[in-house]
Amino acid sequence: MSTHERHTPLLSVRDITKRFGSFTALDGVSLDIRAGTTVSLVGESGSGKSTLARVVVGLESPDDGSVRHRGETVRGRRARQAFRRGVGMVFQDPYESIDPRFTLSEVVAEPLRAHGMYGPDGRERVRELLESVGMGSVDADSYPNRLSGGQRQRVCIARALATGPDLLVCDEPTSALDVSVQAQILNLLMTLQQERGLAYLFITHDLDVVRRISDEVHVLYRGSVVEHGPATEVIGAPREAYTQRLLGAVLADSPRHRRIGGPPLLSGPAGTAR
Ligand SMILES: Nc1ncnc2c1ncn2[C@@H]1O[C@H](COP(=O)(O)OP(=O)(O)OP(=O)(O)O)[C@@H](O)[C@H]1O
Ligand SMILES: [Mg+2]
Repeated sequence: MSTHERHTPLLSVRDITKRFGSFTALDGVSLDIRAGTTVSLVGESGSGKSTLARVVVGLESPDDGSVRHRGETVRGRRARQAFRRGVGMVFQDPYESIDPRFTLSEVVAEPLRAHGMYGPDGRERVRELLESVGMGSVDADSYPNRLSGGQRQRVCIARALATGPDLLVCDEPTSALDVSVQAQILNLLMTLQQERGLAYLFITHDLDVVRRISDEVHVLYRGSVVEHGPATEVIGAPREAYTQRLLGAVLADSPRHRRIGGPPLLSGPAGTAR
């Protein structure tokens, strides 16, 4: 690795502004993610976390600002296509994000086909991907209808990894899952990070998750980053009054949820068991 590569962030987001009509959802947001590290995004509901995630992976185009991947500005058709191979996304609801009409192997193969990467070894690659997320024993030609939420999220992670990305954007990937399954999915993501040197942009409302996985934390408030830094500093000794209030509200909450911003998503003690 050259000195240049070591110092160039894997992903560099600069001055992103995104408006929906007259409403400014993101107002000049910048952040860097170094290879193999995890940057968490926290903030109350509506602060712009998902919008930023969608801009980063190219599902929304910003009104202003730029995204650079490995030092190259993602602009133009070819650059965008190359970038899409290099970044995967995992969404909150694994029920919504898998089309029930497709078999598991079709779901996982979809990005390979979209990028012209499904060759003679395609089936074998899909099998390896399913194995890498702990789904090696399921019938790849079966349909997702019998799978639990956790199993579906594993399939979504396999699909996100299909093209061999170096960055995964995870938008609350565990918050729709049963509490007992959340830790398993989080452990899987951490194992995959170690094995593959993945970087994560990770959105969560769960303070314990932020503590466990993050190298850096960015705090969003009404579309702006109000504080960012090493996780130990931002969580342990927040400098900004807003972050203090945000985290203070969590600590005052029941220790079971420790949810950052907004009302708890999981209502019963067993969560949304499904
Ligand atoms: N497609 C859209 N059209 C109009 N407004 C939108 C659109 N997408 C998001 N918004 C608005 O932008 C703001 C930020 O939304 P966003 O989904 O990014 O918030 P969030 O931080 O992810 O919230 P949550 O924690 O609830 O998921 C919200 O006020 C939302 O209503
Ligand atoms: Mg969101």
